[in-house]
Amino acid sequence: MKCVDRVWIVLGFLFCSLGSAGGSLRLAEDNIDEIVKQMSPREKAMLLVGCESLVSKDSLTVYVPGAAGYTKAFPQYGIPSTVMADGPVGVRIFPIKVDGKRHYCTCFPSSTLLASTWDTQLVETQAGAMGEEAAVYDVDVILTPGINIMRNPLCGRNFEYFSEDPVLSGLMGAAMVNGVQSRGIGTSLKHFVANNQQVNKLNNDSRIPVKALREIYLKGFEICLQHSNPWTVMSSYNKIGGILTQSNAELLRTVLREEWGYDGLVVSDWYGKRNSPEQLEGGTNLLMPGEKAQLEEIEAGIESGALSMEVIDDAVKHILDYVVKTKAFRKDIHAALPDLEQHAALSRSVAGQGMVLLKNDSCVLPLKGIKNISLFGATAYHSIAGGGGSSNVNKSHIVDISTGLEQVGFVLDRSLKDLYTKYNAYQEALLVDPKATDWERLSYRRYVYPEMDLMPNKTLVGEQAKSNDMAVVVIGRGSTEESDRKVHDDFNLSDSEIYMIDKVCEEFHARNKKVVVLLNIGGVVETASWKNKPDAILSVWFPGQECGDAIADAISGKANPSGKLPMTFPIDYFDIPSSRNFPMVGETKSGKNFDYTNYEEDIWVGYRYFNTANKAIVYPFGYGLSYTNFSFGKPKLERKNEKWVATIQITNTGNVSGKETVQLYISAPQTSIQKPSAELKAFGKTRELKPEESETVKLEFTDYDLASFDEANSQWLTSKGEYTLSFGASSKDFRATLPLNISKSRTWKVNNVLRPVEKINIMKFPLK
Ligand code: BGC
Repeated sequence: MKCVDRVWIVLGFLFCSLGSAGGSLRLAEDNIDEIVKQMSPREKAMLLVGCESLVSKDSLTVYVPGAAGYTKAFPQYGIPSTVMADGPVGVRIFPIKVDGKRHYCTCFPSSTLLASTWDTQLVETQAGAMGEEAAVYDVDVILTPGINIMRNPLCGRNFEYFSEDPVLSGLMGAAMVNGVQSRGIGTSLKHFVANNQQVNKLNNDSRIPVKALREIYLKGFEICLQHSNPWTVMSSYNKIGGILTQSNAELLRTVLREEWGYDGLVVSDWYGKRNSPEQLEGGTNLLMPGEKAQLEEIEAGIESGALSMEVIDDAVKHILDYVVKTKAFRKDIHAALPDLEQHAALSRSVAGQGMVLLKNDSCVLPLKGIKNISLFGATAYHSIAGGGGSSNVNKSHIVDISTGLEQVGFVLDRSLKDLYTKYNAYQEALLVDPKATDWERLSYRRYVYPEMDLMPNKTLVGEQAKSNDMAVVVIGRGSTEESDRKVHDDFNLSDSEIYMIDKVCEEFHARNKKVVVLLNIGGVVETASWKNKPDAILSVWFPGQECGDAIADAISGKANPSGKLPMTFPIDYFDIPSSRNFPMVGETKSGKNFDYTNYEEDIWVGYRYFNTANKAIVYPFGYGLSYTNFSFGKPKLERKNEKWVATIQITNTGNVSGKETVQLYISAPQTSIQKPSAELKAFGKTRELKPEESETVKLEFTDYDLASFDEANSQWLTSKGEYTLSFGASSKDFRATLPLNISKSRTWKVNNVLRPVEKINIMKFPLK
């Protein structure tokens, strides 16, 4: 695309000084071995280290401002540089100027919302649009998907991840990979593995019992790789078994390559200050974003013989295998600009399908006969499209919730709107650098403002209740890479937020007027103490740039929210088993939960714990209401070759169109290996069903999918015996069951690797 005002760099002659062997051989898919033979050790070393801060920025074939990193070009071999850009739900680059006008990428709904759709087809569609944007803007790899497990709701990056469950995480991740790659653009499956906290994230040793590591933390990656083939896998920052994952041969060579057969490129997460030879020996192929010191270390390693040429050549081959797949190598020609309008419409529609209706007393939603709304909450007028850090897409606009509601004809109380507008302007003046441009204010300089305290204004809420038809209250909660969340004023609502909900409910209910709460959040917040007060609660998550419009669609009934929770909403933070071994922000500076974190809760993450222990929760995993109802028919099960295929008919029994998710949970016979009461093994979503319409949903699984990890024998084991298949509308709402008899036990051997450095003191079950 020539009209784009970006920096195209004519390949220089710099390479002459790099000790090149030169020659006329040009990289092709079938001559990689020969190219490797021709490259000098120094050239190889340079290829293994990303370009970001090497002297050689001018050696890029194409420069995309704001991209996360590059691999190096070697024109003498026809090797172009390639471009990698974040992030999970949109291409993160600086806006591109075309004909003097800035053009942006689309900020799509966050991963948590995507997982809440339980719709792999929809995720693939969004991912395809992301791939198209990458292609047009000359990005070769989007650094997506992040599929780490939501071990604890306080992890600051949970909004970038899908779920507390590995099956949902793995299949959503695969849909993301397949969608992006269907457009000839690569992905990076990250962060491999168990980067579950931000506190000391670069060095924390995740000490995980092997069974939990296999069944929960590795499982999502394993499933994702069974269903997709990402061009790259990104190792994480943390340690496993006391060794940084980037240098961990047991993880990268034994599990990823040998056991799972992954043949793509392993890249490090973006941090240079590691021991480079150890990373390469451990199985990382490409060190990103690249530092001069790494190059020196590698060269020294080669010279001294400490680093074998076999390891170097293997890494070089993996990089070249990757390069020949890229757009940079293919030299595709694309349209000058992506279809941003169509992508905005897609973003809006996806958002509507992932919102989770948590409560809807007397069918207050969708709103009927309502015109005048009192809209409360700072976030209602300054809404949250996505989380912070590397996933923060530089976007052209965010439709605030207030704007979205007005655009569908609701009339917002003028005086209340003015009050919040002034309050937010004051917060902006306090927090935002006055020199920030408009697009910066919408992206990395956008903050979530603390809630306004309504307490001093004794009459305000009552007056609002007198003159408006109803109230909508928005609770906003930011989340970002680099810091974990806190329990107080974050997981638990702040005093101002609680007062706002209490007072609004009291005054509006006193006049027989309804109250709806919208949660514009990246992850779980406490709901038990206040959920009985409002009439309806809708979790809208981080819905992307079209935020307000998508919410207006849902609450006006234009869209029927069909989301289901991808994680559990507990009553109290301290009900969560991992709360005993998760850093309390600000209090943890060394030792436990800083230098290392003991996963003493073992496999008891999320619903696996709450359901097995029969411990009360607020909203279960897989839960979500709809504006309509569905009935589940009689399920059937068949064996087809290596697969079990279950089918069940779903019928819309209500009055409006909608989609339903069928979740297949399987209970295994109890053996000496501890097992959760039931685990998700497959799921499927219907198309939009009109009232009385039905669809048969197909759910597939294999004998291997039924296996538990038998740590004593380092094997996966599917025990013989009676299994129960439960077809659920949530993990607590099983609508139909089927027995399954496995007549013969089956095992799959794996390596005895990745043991924690110390024996973990596993919590006794039931956990007290
Ligand atoms: C993050 C990755 C991201 C990379 C590049 C790292 O800090 O952990 O998720 O892709 O930066 O920006």
